[in-house]
Amino acid sequence: MIRKIKIDEARSLQRLINSAAAGGHVLERSLNYIYENVRDFWVYTGQEGQIIGCCGLHVIGWQSLAELKSLVVDKNFQRKNIGQQLIKKALGEAKELGVSKVFALTFSPVFFKKHGFVSTDKNNLPHKIWTECLNCKHFPDCKEEAVIIEI
Ligand SMILES: CC(C)(COP(=O)(O)OP(=O)(O)OC[C@H]1O[C@@H](n2cnc3c(N)ncnc32)[C@H](O)[C@@H]1OP(=O)(O)O)[C@@H](O)C(=O)NCCC(=O)NCCS
Repeated sequence: MIRKIKIDEARSLQRLINSAAAGGHVLERSLNYIYENVRDFWVYTGQEGQIIGCCGLHVIGWQSLAELKSLVVDKNFQRKNIGQQLIKKALGEAKELGVSKVFALTFSPVFFKKHGFVSTDKNNLPHKIWTECLNCKHFPDCKEEAVIIEI
C-alpha cells in the first residue's frame, strides 16, 4: 500500500533512508529534516504496516518545478516494482498540484531514465538546490546526475 507517512513513523523512515545513505546511494536525512518535510513523503508499507519504500516530492514552486527526493526501497524488497509505483505516485501528486516539471539528483540515472526522465544540466536547476549541496559531504566532488521529466 502506498500512502503519506504519519508523523510517528519518522524514525522508521529515517532508518530506511539512512540505510541507503550508508551505501552512498542517497543523501542522509536528519530526523529534523524529516519532521520539517513530513508532508513530502510517500511510503510503501508491507503487510505488517512496516515501511519498505519511500519517496519525497518537494515543491520548489518557481518555474512550476518540484524535486523527487529520497527514493529508497528496502534491499529485501527491491526489483518488485515498488520503486516504480512510488515514482508514479509522486508524479501523480505533482500533476494534481499543477507542477509541470519534476527533477531528481541521483546516483542511479539509469533507473530514472527507464521511467521517462532525461538528463539535464544542473545549472538549469534553481539556485535553491545548491543550499543542500553546500551542506553535503560529497560537495564539491559530487557524482550525482540531474534528471528531469515533463508531466
Ligand atoms: C533505485 C530503487 C529505488 C529501485 O527500486 P525497485 O523497487 O527495486 O525498482 P523497481 O522494481 O520498481 O524497478 C523498475 C525498473 O527499474 C529497473 N531498476 C531497478 N533498480 C535499478 C537500478 N539501480 N538501475 C537501473 N535499473 C534499475 C528494474 O529492473 C525495472 O526495470 P524493468 O521494468 O525494465 O525490469 C532501489 O534500487 C533503491 O532503493 N536503491 C537504493 C537507493 C537509490 O539508489 N535511490 C535512487 C536515487 S534517489
